[in-house]
Amino acid sequence: MIELDSVWFSYPTGTAALRGVSLFFRCGEIVALMGENGAGKTTLLKHLNGLLKPTKGRVTVDGIDTRTTTVATLSKKVGLVFQNPDNMFLRTSVLEEVSYALEQFGAEREEARRRAGEVLKAFELWHYRDSSPFTLSGGEKKKLAISIVMAWMPKYIAIDEPTSGLDGWGKRVLAELLLNLKNSERGIILSSHDVEFVSDVATRVVLLRKGEVISDGAPEDVLTEPELLSEASLLTPQIPSLLYELRSRGLRMLNHKLLKLEEAVETLSKLLSWAGHTGEDDS
Ligand SMILES: Nc1ncnc2c1ncn2[C@@H]1O[C@H](COP(=O)(O)OP(=O)(O)OP(=O)(O)O)[C@@H](O)[C@H]1O
Ligand SMILES: [Mg+2]
Repeated sequence: MIELDSVWFSYPTGTAALRGVSLFFRCGEIVALMGENGAGKTTLLKHLNGLLKPTKGRVTVDGIDTRTTTVATLSKKVGLVFQNPDNMFLRTSVLEEVSYALEQFGAEREEARRRAGEVLKAFELWHYRDSSPFTLSGGEKKKLAISIVMAWMPKYIAIDEPTSGLDGWGKRVLAELLLNLKNSERGIILSSHDVEFVSDVATRVVLLRKGEVISDGAPEDVLTEPELLSEASLLTPQIPSLLYELRSRGLRMLNHKLLKLEEAVETLSKLLSWAGHTGEDDS
């Protein structure tokens, strides 16, 4: 478990980016950190592998205080994908980039290249294997950065804005990979403004505002509350928006705490078929 205990963090400029944050992240969860620009999401993620240390309070990774160990040691357990992936690339080719990272964590060269190939194929980056990472498009760079971290399979994976720049297919592939990782008992923590993607994958949503946690709960409780979401400058996802609007127009029996399309379709079809029957009876 990763635990933040009353964490405060101020940058040297004096900005207090985290103000008394207490949270935990467990394996088997996909936790989405959400909130307005400047809320403190990136700052929080950088605390998970010790890149930043609390000004006050404590962060522990499986019981180890991040202040007592190196970022290199912590990174074996907590893989962090940066918001701007350009910072992560060191090698001359895409394949080398991923296999180099694996070798750094102890894999043999052949095994590293094999696993790198698997991840690149999953993300459809295989045909770029000999290209320089810097020639990739924005979304492709993001996918490569995520591939590098996923390849070494750390126990915890923290991804800053995973869907920024990804097309619809890329998001779907990413969602599947994240769900597989969750099912293999890894802990995933991501920051995002993408309410639709988070509705699909998250098992928990944490809302941050001005460095403080203002909500922490199940996606169907947090992402279906327009007033709460607007406090964090977020829009309500489409499905609960529709259900909420229908409820406020008189369909009080409608459950608006649904996020999945299939659930909403089922509920609405029941309602429509019931209304259809009533219509026939009336005529
Ligand atoms: N290197 C830095 N030096 C000084 N202040 C910083 C630095 N990085 C971030 N900040 C400030 O800390 C606060 C939190 O920033 P952070 O990057 O954690 O927000 P965020 O929630 O990730 O925002 P976004 O959604 O825009 O990525 C902001 O007020 C920001 O201006
Ligand atoms: Mg950020």
